[in-house]
Amino acid sequence: MRTLGHRLLFALAGGLIALAGSAARAETPSYVGAKKCKACHLKQFQSWEQTKMAKSFELLKAGAYADAKKKMNVDPQKDYTHDEKCLPCHTTGYGKPGGFVSLEKTPELVGVQCESCHGPGGEYLKQGYMTLVNREYKRAELLKVGLVVPMAETCTLQCHNPKSPFVTKDSVFNFEERKKKGTHEHIALKYEH
Ligand code: HEC
Ligand code: HEC
Ligand code: HEC
Repeated sequence: MRTLGHRLLFALAGGLIALAGSAARAETPSYVGAKKCKACHLKQFQSWEQTKMAKSFELLKAGAYADAKKKMNVDPQKDYTHDEKCLPCHTTGYGKPGGFVSLEKTPELVGVQCESCHGPGGEYLKQGYMTLVNREYKRAELLKVGLVVPMAETCTLQCHNPKSPFVTKDSVFNFEERKKKGTHEHIALKYEH
């Protein structure tokens, strides 16, 4: 009897602490890096790894894509890996809390990673959100703390726009086509969210 009462009390107290904790946590989410996502999304990770998006930091190096750069009046001999004009679209979370700072300080955040498209995971990966014990999470709850389910506008507003030297005014962005080569293998979700 005593133990049962105690357990109930502890469970209640624990629940209250968890609630208080989650309310206090509604802060700016920070970036965690693609390796964290790999643990639960291996297929997406492995197929993403092969894409040009994953490797897009390499494009900033001197000598890379020289012909394309010449055509667009970008100096093919110059090293752009520290150029703040290029970093927002060729790294993950540049200038944001927990995001890419520099190749030396945050080498794990180079390229267009999961969180460039799906939002920083610092909050939505916490207990009660996207976890293995909560596979049936409510999507609306995760969207409130930073998860992004990308649409065409997500891509064009963030990166695929004429601020890029390689996107012209006449470029057409076809979301469905790009999804096939720029993202990862897509696997239907098992649960309702
Ligand atoms: C501890 C395991 C775990 C980790 C780590 C994890 N996820 Fe998930 N994720 C899940 C589960 C479980 C689902 C739901 C799967 C289902 O319904 O089949 C999911 C679903 C998703 C979805 C679908 C969202 C929707 O509801 O439309 C996206 C996008 C996603 N994860 C991205 C990420 C990203 C990005 C990371 C790293 C920052 C990440 N996940 C890390 C377990 C995880
Ligand atoms: C507004 C976001 C943005 C900025 C800023 C940006 N890029 Fe990019 N970059 C992109 C996108 C999007 C693509 C892919 C274009 C496509 O294939 O439609 C790209 C592609 C490239 C490519 C490959 C071109 C090809 O032919 O495949 C190189 C090289 C490159 N960028 C270098 C740079 C350099 C150097 C800078 C800075 C001077 C820069 N980018 C700034 C978004 C950006
Ligand atoms: C260039 C943008 C982009 C990147 C990078 C990206 N994703 Fe996605 N992801 C998408 C899009 C677009 C969808 C599909 C949304 C829809 O259903 O229309 C998606 C869907 C998903 C889903 C739902 C199930 C599925 O397979 O469609 C999961 C899980 C997911 N992504 C995880 C990841 C993980 C993990 C990474 C990094 C290894 C990652 N994504 C990198 C754009 C991206």
